[in-house]
Amino acid sequence: MLAFFLIIGLSFLMMAGTLMNMLGEYLFSQRIQSDRAGLEKWAVQAAGYLTFSDAAGLDDTVRRAGAELGGRVLLMDELGKVQADSFQTALGRRLDYPEVASILVSGETADYGVHSLETGEAAQGENMLRFAGEEEWVSYSTAGIVSSSHVIGVMMLVSSVRGLMQGLSTVQTQMTVLFVVVAVAAVASGMIFSGVLTRPIAEMTRVIRRMSKGDLGARVAEKGSGEIKQLAIAFNSMSEQLEALNQTRNQFVSNASHELKTPLATMKIMIESLIYQPDMDAELRTEFLGDVNAEINRLSSIVSDLLVLVKVDSRSSDLVKEKLSLAEVVKDAQHRLQPIMDHREQDIILKLQDSCDMLADKSMMQQIVYNLMENAAKYTPDKGKITVTLQRMGKDAVLTVADNGPGIPKESQPHIFERFYRVDKARGRESGGTGLGLSIVQQYVNLHDGRIRVQSDVGQGTTFIVELPLNKL
Ligand SMILES: Nc1ncnc2c1ncn2[C@@H]1O[C@H](COP(=O)(O)OP(=O)(O)O)[C@@H](O)[C@H]1O
Ligand SMILES: [Mg+2]
Repeated sequence: MLAFFLIIGLSFLMMAGTLMNMLGEYLFSQRIQSDRAGLEKWAVQAAGYLTFSDAAGLDDTVRRAGAELGGRVLLMDELGKVQADSFQTALGRRLDYPEVASILVSGETADYGVHSLETGEAAQGENMLRFAGEEEWVSYSTAGIVSSSHVIGVMMLVSSVRGLMQGLSTVQTQMTVLFVVVAVAAVASGMIFSGVLTRPIAEMTRVIRRMSKGDLGARVAEKGSGEIKQLAIAFNSMSEQLEALNQTRNQFVSNASHELKTPLATMKIMIESLIYQPDMDAELRTEFLGDVNAEINRLSSIVSDLLVLVKVDSRSSDLVKEKLSLAEVVKDAQHRLQPIMDHREQDIILKLQDSCDMLADKSMMQQIVYNLMENAAKYTPDKGKITVTLQRMGKDAVLTVADNGPGIPKESQPHIFERFYRVDKARGRESGGTGLGLSIVQQYVNLHDGRIRVQSDVGQGTTFIVELPLNKL
């Protein structure tokens, strides 16, 4: 703002200076012209009296000329001697002003000059302005008196330029006043204007400070126009995301704590029973210890699943890609799950149409396939049927895992990929699941630029469809 006012102020000063000079020059040239024209007229009249040395005529002429032109009029002969003076005081004296000499010596017809009465110095142009009002300044106007094309004398008008000088100095004062008024107004309006501009930014800074102190609900007002409003909108949308993220995180931590607490509480009860009932019979004791062991397994699988998710979240899980056949991965998972499915007399059908060779992280692929097939086996009742298909479709490998189990209600379907979400809380926990399996599957599929979705009808069964791009090979 300071730089701005400096530039404006300097240009105003330069402009004012130029304007004053122009005005001064114009007023002086006007004055010169009118003085000259008046004097030349009288010089013609005086020519006759001077030729015949008519002193009374000359005296009368200078008096009338002085009265009409508003100044002192002198008349000199060709030697520069004063022959007539409307003030009478210089009669008979020789005046060698340059304005007089220029006519008598170099034959000019007219001349002009400005002089100080006090110092007798001549001044030109700008100097005159500088001394305006401090001294009495007069102008000397001269015109040659010509008779039969000979200069026989000079007529001179001495008139005050005080009025002109005063006019100019008034204009100068007025300009100064105007400058001060305009400058004050400009500074004031500039401050108001810059205040209006910076206020939203200052408000945003306040809100950012509040947010960094933990108040994530703080928002800025989306008012104003243009860029500032866009900035406010973008800022608020960022804040909303931040708040949502924070909420998700809090939810996750509280869910995780709850999930870890349940097995701990169960274990505590069983271990206390073992401590306070030393005479418990051996069979029951073994059963309790077996239950404690199962809870420890649960805890450890929750913790390892959480570690997996934390790793994916922090993006520190680098994909170790290698060439693999997805069909082999499916066969492998089937092999591992066969004992459980045999035990439950479930039927498993594999329809592997293509080998689906691809570059992918093997352990992640194993997790994806195993978790989906394990869920199918786990949630499908005894004697159920599980069908796994694999085929190439365009640039994708398409894996489907279908069962004829209980199905997933429509309202639960959007949530099954959320962390710790289970359709039937109690049963899910009983069956040993952590509620994290599908979250991990979805994250791994995303890391491989794939897609996963579910189709399910209650009572009919569930089908998970996974599409993984093959083009990376
Ligand atoms: N094949 C399926 N049939 C019916 N419900 C399923 C099936 N797969 C997953 N679900 C539901 O989705 C929930 C989330 O699955 P998942 O994330 O693997 O957790 P869990 O550890 O409980 O298996 C399960 O608790 C279950 O309610
Ligand atoms: Mg599962």
